[in-house]
Amino acid sequence: MNAAITEESPAHISSGGSAQPSALGGGRPVDPTQLDTTHGVILYLESINVSFDGFKAINNLNLTIDRGELRCVIGPNGAGKTTMMDVITGKTRPDNGTAFFGQTIDLTKLSEPQIAHAGIGRKFQKPTVFEQLSVFENLELAMKTDKGIWASLRAKLSGEQGDKIAANLKLIQLEDQAHRPAGLLSHGQKQWLEIGMLLMQEPQLLLLDEPAAGMTDAETERSGELFLSLAGQYTLVVVEHDMDFIKQISEGRKVTCLHEGSVLSEGPLDQVQNDERVIEVYLGR
Ligand SMILES: Nc1ncnc2c1ncn2[C@@H]1O[C@H](COP(=O)(O)OP(=O)(O)OP(=O)(O)O)[C@@H](O)[C@H]1O
Ligand SMILES: [Mg+2]
Repeated sequence: MNAAITEESPAHISSGGSAQPSALGGGRPVDPTQLDTTHGVILYLESINVSFDGFKAINNLNLTIDRGELRCVIGPNGAGKTTMMDVITGKTRPDNGTAFFGQTIDLTKLSEPQIAHAGIGRKFQKPTVFEQLSVFENLELAMKTDKGIWASLRAKLSGEQGDKIAANLKLIQLEDQAHRPAGLLSHGQKQWLEIGMLLMQEPQLLLLDEPAAGMTDAETERSGELFLSLAGQYTLVVVEHDMDFIKQISEGRKVTCLHEGSVLSEGPLDQVQNDERVIEVYLGR
């Protein structure tokens, strides 16, 4: 292993895995078993507003996601898709509005680390994996993050933990790459590894912002299969511009189109694509 590795973790790990309150965000950890989805709803946003210097990036946004859904979110550049994810993950505080994770967890009152710990995982566009560590070690670290890197890697894995890593390696189809340094993976494989790392933390809701960006067609299709296999057991919200990809993963599901910080249209993909208002905002660019 390479001595250049620092104790600094990729962003999603440092905020996600620790059971300790973060010095930055603060607040008591939220017990992930508190998540109450008795009415089937895992995410509920109502009348959310976010403005930046008077510009309304999110404008009275309402969105409901059911547990187990795979929801695609589309919309032109600047529609507010990433800002919506920032609100859900606590990176950006809404000016007002309601944001609940399940029935009881009020996201507007929690810090970013608390939200991650409660069970919301986020994947950013750029993969953030430890390049010098093996694929296996990356997954191992994602599981136990409150100790620091070297202590974590020295600690012995339990049988159950080993099984969990093996299951995730299989899911992300990197079994044959397990002992290669992550830095040698293709862009697509790094993205899958990062998804595997998120899954090690057992999130209930996964937010993926442009996961197919920069991927080859084959990698994009494989990602689609991966997301379809995760739906049901997990809830996924996927923001993408690649319409072939959206088509692949949205069959029989709802798609949401955002525009100017609000929901413009929602329903099956062909209905949304044929919605006059949607056609207008895409052509109007
Ligand atoms: N921190 C910020 N300060 C000021 N303006 C911002 C900030 N973040 C986002 N915006 C603005 O808010 C609007 C929505 O941005 P956002 O990044 O959410 O759009 P998006 O739908 O994700 O677009 P894209 O498809 O290009 O990623 C844009 O006009 C953007 O310039
Ligand atoms: Mg964006």
